[in-house]
Amino acid sequence: MKRLRFVLKSILTVIAVMSIVSLFWTAAYFITEALYTQFAWRPHPLVRQIISSILGFLLFGMTMSAISPFLRKREKVFWQHLIDAINRIAKGDFRVNLQADWGGRNHPFAELVTRINDMAANLQAMEEMRQEFISNVSHEIGSPLTSIRGFARALKNEDLSREQRLHYLDIIETECVRLSKLSENLLRLAMLDSDHYPFHPTSYRLDTQLQTLILHCEPQWAEKELNMCVLFEKVIITADEDLLSQVWLNLIHNAIKFTPKGGTITIQLQRRGEQAIVTVSDTGPGINEHDQLRIFERFYKADKSRHRAAGGSGLGLSIAKKIVDIHHGIISVQSQPGEGATFTVELPVHGPVS
Ligand SMILES: Nc1ncnc2c1ncn2[C@@H]1O[C@H](COP(=O)(O)OP(=O)(O)OP(=O)(O)O)[C@@H](O)[C@H]1O
Ligand SMILES: [Mg+2]
Repeated sequence: MKRLRFVLKSILTVIAVMSIVSLFWTAAYFITEALYTQFAWRPHPLVRQIISSILGFLLFGMTMSAISPFLRKREKVFWQHLIDAINRIAKGDFRVNLQADWGGRNHPFAELVTRINDMAANLQAMEEMRQEFISNVSHEIGSPLTSIRGFARALKNEDLSREQRLHYLDIIETECVRLSKLSENLLRLAMLDSDHYPFHPTSYRLDTQLQTLILHCEPQWAEKELNMCVLFEKVIITADEDLLSQVWLNLIHNAIKFTPKGGTITIQLQRRGEQAIVTVSDTGPGINEHDQLRIFERFYKADKSRHRAAGGSGLGLSIAKKIVDIHHGIISVQSQPGEGATFTVELPVHGPVS
């Protein structure tokens, strides 16, 4: 269909050009004939032919140069709009929406307009993300700082008891830990976002890594009297050990943080074909469907009013997802409110194959 349209268009163009050329040559013929009659001079037919051809060319050239500014006007307006739009983009105004009214969607000008509109829309989305990121970071830094300042001021009061003083110092210390964890996580994310993150895959026992990390977290889960159930198959994986340990720690820390005292955490590892499957389940409050779609976003917390003691800035799962993505794996959550949550990580055992 497209080819047929192209052939028809070409034939029509050739017919139009030939008609216009014949028109000018006919005009030239009649003009020269009229002049010969006027001056009663009749040169040789060859000379007549040459004169008539030259005049045809001249008439054609003059007419075309007279009407071309009108033909180009639309093109000129188009380029002016395009230059204006690019200038606005260069100045940081990405609300650009050029109209693509050039002969069909496949016309190169229409394609150029579509590309510029897409580029502006992407830049606008990135700008909104950047602003949201800055406002989230400011908020996450602002609230501990306000609290530190308030308690530091309160500590100046000489009438405070020793217990009160220690309590306030504890709060200040907790807020400082929260701030340093935030800066650590932000640096980690920036590093993972850049194309130069250190990525050193090696082959190692995934079950041993998980076991070591669970033991490492024992003081935290033992303090909350949580039952830790583990079910591991022996799995050798090719992956970046340091990066993956961050994933497991973030998932285990969440499970410990959100599971009430006396609850149970179950961690399983199995090999299914070429995939290693790790699941971390808990008996915590669970996550509703709406939040499940957003918890892997940066700074997203399902319960905004969560008590400060629970801590966290909503970065742990986004870091985990980023690392799993780097390994060409999948991280997902299954949960029902009130019935705990299960996080599943699927990773190719032979490492990321690009
Ligand atoms: N096991 C879980 N049970 C219930 N909710 C969870 C669980 N894990 C994560 N969430 C929800 O997902 C949100 C995002 O988790 P994420 O680990 O990214 O952030 P965080 O734990 O709040 O802070 P951070 O990890 O930066 O210290 C949490 O705030 C919480 O609402
Ligand atoms: Mg977390």
